[in-house]
Amino acid sequence: MLPLLLALAVTGQNTTAIELKNSCPPSFELSNNNTCLLVSRYDLYDSLHDKGVGGTQTSLPKARDGFSPQQIDLGRYLFFDPLLSGNHRQACASCHQPDKGFTDGKALSTGTHGDVGNRSAPSLWNVTFLKKLFWDARADSLEQQALIPLFAAHEMANSAEQLLADLSTNKIYPALFKQAFPQAAQLELSQVATALAAFQSSLISLNSRYDQYAHGYHEALDTDEIKGLNVFRSFVARCAECHTPPLFTNQQIAVIGTPEPDGMPFDQGAGNSSDKKKLRGAFKVPSLRNIAKTAPYMHSGRFATLEEAAEFYTKGRGHAVQEQKLLLHWHIWEPKLTPEEISQISKFLHTLTDESLMPELPTALPSGLPLPAELQHNTTTAAAEATPSIAPSSEQGTQP
Ligand code: HEC
Ligand code: HEC
Repeated sequence: MLPLLLALAVTGQNTTAIELKNSCPPSFELSNNNTCLLVSRYDLYDSLHDKGVGGTQTSLPKARDGFSPQQIDLGRYLFFDPLLSGNHRQACASCHQPDKGFTDGKALSTGTHGDVGNRSAPSLWNVTFLKKLFWDARADSLEQQALIPLFAAHEMANSAEQLLADLSTNKIYPALFKQAFPQAAQLELSQVATALAAFQSSLISLNSRYDQYAHGYHEALDTDEIKGLNVFRSFVARCAECHTPPLFTNQQIAVIGTPEPDGMPFDQGAGNSSDKKKLRGAFKVPSLRNIAKTAPYMHSGRFATLEEAAEFYTKGRGHAVQEQKLLLHWHIWEPKLTPEEISQISKFLHTLTDESLMPELPTALPSGLPLPAELQHNTTTAAAEATPSIAPSSEQGTQP
């Protein structure tokens, strides 16, 4: 069994001590300088051994690991805590919900003041391997990324001043930050970003039925799923050219010409942040890990099912955005997949589900705030078993 979420000790009258975990999440090994290093079966493979398109036994890109167990655990509390938003109503986890593959299940996300954004929330599984973040690849690190939703008016709508004040005046957080950043003189924004990055780096999903198959256990997939994998990897469908195993992304950006939802303006994608005309409408090739959990699909959430998403590729180059005259990627062609092949691809994509390393949801938050309403159903079992370990503090425990 995993250690208790919060080891709580009441010393004296008022002081509540919380210990952050001092062991690494499963799949990580603790090094002797107190950092967690990822261990995976893919470490056994040398990428040179199997260079073919979509080769199954290839190594993974370098993971962003090396955080301490305490930083990862602090990040877990921060990730679920609505204290991080300006009005204390929305947490990172509101839009990245564990039981929805760390997405929100919506085509377009909704911010803490009810503003509808312009893109769909991506999954956070395996983000530790990604070199660029956001659909348009505009962030270079998890730390840089984390500060953007915190302060975006249409997302968590906080300010650096308020966030630091809320955390520093909280009864519990300052001690937790001290455990996670023992060298630091004071609580700083960069520590919030580091802890959030640390937690997200622990969201590893590499033990799906597909992985068992890739490691040599052929019975892990049935006949249709194997046919789907073969279509996916074929030079006709070309899916694996971009969605390259084992991560199911080659980490590039590509113009593939997906449509916007009705009434939404055309999204320039990476063309927005660059003056290169050929990147107009380019998006990051998303990983397809846990893809069965993260509907609807694409940056715009335009497709409700995996069949619809796969069918998009067969309908003809640029068919959905003809008037935009995009410079489509050369692997976007017209594979003319049959309905049977589309169904096989979808069945294969369902084998990429693995949530065995799902982190524990906090049963109580250091802020004393309740988990955001959209997460409550995630915790029914956990909450029923555990009495809240932290007494809500009177100043911060209630919301209007
Ligand atoms: C209002 C909903 C919402 C909230 C709250 C939110 N996110 Fe997101 N997140 C999104 C959306 C939408 C995107 C994609 C935006 C884009 O690409 O322009 C995204 C993208 C990301 C990405 C990039 C993933 C990738 O594959 O490129 C990461 C990492 C991330 N969010 C982490 C966080 C963290 C950490 C927090 C809390 C500090 C947070 N998010 C809060 C909606 C949200
Ligand atoms: C040229 C590179 C490329 C090829 C080839 C390609 N894709 Fe994609 N795929 C992308 C990009 C880029 C996106 C994101 C596009 C967007 O959001 O507008 C994407 C998105 C997806 C998504 C939605 C992922 C999500 O998180 O919402 C699925 C599913 C998908 N592709 C499946 C396939 C299948 C099946 C094939 C083969 C028939 C295929 N792709 C071929 C680049 C590619």
